[in-house]
Amino acid sequence: MSKATVIDHPLVQHKLTIMRKKDTSTGGFRRLLREISTLLCYEVTRDLKLTTETIETPMVEMQAPTLEGKKLVFASILRAGNGLLEGMLDLVPSARVAHVGVYRDHDTLEAIEYFFKAPELLEDRLTIVVDPMLATGNSSIAAVDKLKERGAKNLRFLCLLAAPEGIENFAKAHPDVPIYTAAIDSHLNEQGYIIPGLGDAGDRIYGTK
Ligand code: URA
Repeated sequence: MSKATVIDHPLVQHKLTIMRKKDTSTGGFRRLLREISTLLCYEVTRDLKLTTETIETPMVEMQAPTLEGKKLVFASILRAGNGLLEGMLDLVPSARVAHVGVYRDHDTLEAIEYFFKAPELLEDRLTIVVDPMLATGNSSIAAVDKLKERGAKNLRFLCLLAAPEGIENFAKAHPDVPIYTAAIDSHLNEQGYIIPGLGDAGDRIYGTK
């Protein structure tokens, strides 16, 4: 079984190509990320369970479909994850949001958390963890470790680009968490950047370089 689902919708692929171009402006990059994250959100939620509720239309009473269970949680891995959040919240405005600031110590491999704020009852909610880049997988693995420690049981991981190395590492650490991505690139370079990639996602979203 494949370790990651590639969201190959033509609009996603077209927008991603523009985002990869080095001359795309900060404003353009941010707008495209917002648009693309709406499409990714649509795909990652397409199998959510429905129940029915009784409603009244102006004509009659009916049993109408509605999402089952508690509100979703979108968990953003700081800081680039916030770039994916906006479009997802456009589509699911009632979702709860968690922010996770975490990195993995190079020597001990221990997950070092510097910020964590999440809604209550994680154990009863689907948590969709978002970070544009799955590179080594270290921060994503650590973020999911922390969410699981706080009770999350039902998780999905959504990114824009993934390296094969990151998919391998993440799937080994969290085999129960499905990965969704718009593309799987060739490899990581020595500095841990995805090749061909799109550069540093945080810098491109926030214009910090
Ligand atoms: N993080 C980024 O922002 N870009 C990469 O290529 C790898 C990790």
